[in-house]
Amino acid sequence: AEADDQLIIDAGQKQFGATTCGSCGMIYSADSLEDNFQHTQFHKRFLDSITFVGWKKERVVADFWDGKIILVLPDDPKYAVRKAEDVRQLADNELGFQQVSLSCPSQAKTYLFVNSDRMVVGCLIAEHIRQGFRVLEQPEQTKDMTKEDFMEHHRVWCCSITPEKAICGVSRIWVFSLARRKGIATRMLDTVRNSFMYGGHLTKEEIAFSDPTPDGKLFATKYCET
Ligand code: ACO
Ligand code: ZN
Repeated sequence: AEADDQLIIDAGQKQFGATTCGSCGMIYSADSLEDNFQHTQFHKRFLDSITFVGWKKERVVADFWDGKIILVLPDDPKYAVRKAEDVRQLADNELGFQQVSLSCPSQAKTYLFVNSDRMVVGCLIAEHIRQGFRVLEQPEQTKDMTKEDFMEHHRVWCCSITPEKAICGVSRIWVFSLARRKGIATRMLDTVRNSFMYGGHLTKEEIAFSDPTPDGKLFATKYCET
């Protein structure tokens, strides 16, 4: 049975007949009418949400050769807050969050990474918190684990039991699927540490991640140890 299971998992990973859209990153079957329809709908909404037209006043907190990071605060002009919300919704959809549960929305700081094509390809929401749970070492993912097993396993390991002092809680971190592994999340987090508190620099210990996903955990573990 083990060999059979492995076969099924491999087939799933290769996604036979699946296409990845080079613009929105959606994986769908181009042969299926239903899939094509869903893609068309998602594609437009997604690109509308991440397109960044540029604002008269942008709070640029970091500049890079391939983009910049803009900070949006709750009292900013409507168009800025709206863009931050649009992108957060995309991230929430992908993360499977049904409901918005920021501990204090009026205090949340949203960091948007805008690339040189004027697309918002990264979003990080940071909040003031009193205490957090430190991300612990990642157990090795066993090859024959199903995704559900992994998630289950994962949750148990993901946080320590004792709360520790933390100042900045990262409640969302998201990078566009086609822009991952280019250090965008790392740069957003570095920027948070430099700009979250006026006149102060936060250590890695003063940052906590709320309920990280498997991707989030892999990233956070790497980030915290380096
Ligand atoms: N698998 C293994 N290692 C990873 C992964 C991964 N999926 N993602 C990041 N890392 C590690 C790597 O060591 C990486 O360095 P390398 O590329 O040189 O090997 C290092 O972390 C730095 O990665 P970045 O390039 O800075 O991370 P990226 O910009 O790709 O963003 C993120 C990471 C935000 C987790 C992205 O994968 C994502 O948006 N995933 C979907 C949404 C999600 O799960 N977000 C986290 C939710 S938890 C929360 O919001 C509190
Ligand atoms: Zn598309």
